[in-house]
Amino acid sequence: MIAPSVLSADFLNLGRDVEMINESEAALFHVDVMDGRFVPNISFGLPVIKAIKKLAKKALDVHLMIVEPEKYFEDFKNAGADILSVHVEASVHLHRSLQSIKALGMKAGVAINPHTPVSALSEVIMDTDLVCMMSVNPGFGGQSFIPNTLNKIRELKKMITEKGASTLIEIDGGVTLENAATIIEAGADVLVAGNTVFSAADPKKMISDLHRLSK
Ligand code: DX5
Ligand code: ZN
Repeated sequence: MIAPSVLSADFLNLGRDVEMINESEAALFHVDVMDGRFVPNISFGLPVIKAIKKLAKKALDVHLMIVEPEKYFEDFKNAGADILSVHVEASVHLHRSLQSIKALGMKAGVAINPHTPVSALSEVIMDTDLVCMMSVNPGFGGQSFIPNTLNKIRELKKMITEKGASTLIEIDGGVTLENAATIIEAGADVLVAGNTVFSAADPKKMISDLHRLSK
């Protein structure tokens, strides 16, 4: 599955870019929320997500890069999030957070930074619908894929299989047409792509090309 990252869209033509994703082979909209505290960048928030939701024909996969995410679960639900991911590094009570997200009717995701070991997920994997594994340090689009992520994907896949979980593995950051096949081979189910899609001459075709590799 391909999840284009709205972070790299043209905000002056956001409606056009949302329509492009609607008509493409993308499975999800990946929506990055940054607060300038958990990560050294500020992106956009609830009003922009509400606007995207009005036009989007696919599920919104909202990646929260904010401190104290639990304060805003209901707000993100009301803005239109279908999947809501919180960072393990930003969650003091991760288990409770996952239950709260699900109780609001969303799928619950856990995001992990490059330095966080996969073992940090072992006690919550059964409660997690999606792991958003960062393959760059979060905060910016257009960075390079960290190669050690491939080992982490294999390890996570093994954990999911051994525990009999149905968690999806999403890889976020530095995905290109060149490395996508290797990432999928390691066990990824969802590829986020920002820069690769939106800097392409034909973004919709780029989504199809990535989608073809993911089948
Ligand atoms: C990074 C974000 C990513 C970003 C990916 O902090 O979480 O979702 O948009 O962008 P690319 O695909 O350009 O690395
Ligand atoms: Zn993201």
